[in-house]
Amino acid sequence: MQCSPSLALALSSLLGVLALMQLYRNFRTPARYGKHDDRSDKLRARLPARCAWFLQELPAFLVPTLLLAMRSPPRLEPVGCRLLSGMFCGHYFYRTFIYSFFTRSRLFPLQILFLAILFCSYNGFLQGYYMIYCAQYPNDWFTDFRFISGVLLFLFGMGINIHSDLLLRQLRKPGDTTYKIPQGGLFTYVSGANFFGEIVEWFGYAIATWSFPAFTFALFTLCCIGPRAYHHHRFYLRMFTDYPKSRKALIPFIF
Ligand SMILES: NC(=O)c1ccc[n+]([C@@H]2O[C@H](COP(=O)([O-])OP(=O)(O)OC[C@H]3O[C@@H](n4cnc5c(N)ncnc54)[C@H](OP(=O)(O)O)[C@@H]3O)[C@@H](O)[C@H]2O)c1
Repeated sequence: MQCSPSLALALSSLLGVLALMQLYRNFRTPARYGKHDDRSDKLRARLPARCAWFLQELPAFLVPTLLLAMRSPPRLEPVGCRLLSGMFCGHYFYRTFIYSFFTRSRLFPLQILFLAILFCSYNGFLQGYYMIYCAQYPNDWFTDFRFISGVLLFLFGMGINIHSDLLLRQLRKPGDTTYKIPQGGLFTYVSGANFFGEIVEWFGYAIATWSFPAFTFALFTLCCIGPRAYHHHRFYLRMFTDYPKSRKALIPFIF
């Protein structure tokens, strides 16, 4: 495979357009899964959440991993390949093989699963293709301010995301599907602590890789789960009269 800059640009631009469409749609209506699923719709096909999360996240790990393996000769030395395998694939290893096996979510709608599989395949291909075949870095990139600050931001966001996922999971015993007020960690300040962590994480990746596809993916993440944090916050305010009044939706002390 060769680098086609116009292909990378076209796929990234489309992702940017999809991001803005998500922002418009998701602020009006929350994505219909988890606490925003319409459970009165009995005809809607659903499947166990562990299976759904595994299937939908797998392409985001598998597609770039296969692209790395198909590279001839297969090697990880180029900077782009190292960033891709260490950061992008590292996150999706967690989401596919760890998060999905421990989640205590309710049944997951099949329709959303299909869309998520499409998105993870598309984005996995775009990020993998660009970092393996197109991205070029100077030899001293690992000492560049953008790389160092981006990696620190990525690790900070990933730490918040994984910790918040854990706090949410601990709110339920196995088999329980009720909702409680999240406590501790960044949930002290925002209702969407897991989403805040994930958004910071992908902007960190975008800065560390300094790549247009990674920036459009970070924007997509913001437009997808930023509004979800807002709807979660409204849900909690409606559901719990004793919900902490000082807690914000997504950004501590601000929004
Ligand atoms: N990069 C992206 O574009 C993107 C997109 C979507 C998700 N994600 C990431 O994927 C992860 C999961 O996303 P999500 O939308 O499922 O997050 P979520 O709505 O916050 O739910 C996360 C888990 O916690 C449970 N939960 C949520 N609030 C709870 C409460 N008050 N009491 C008890 N349990 C509660 C949920 O159960 P229920 O499912 O039963 O509500 C689910 O198992 C997050 O870390 C998110 O950042 C990333």
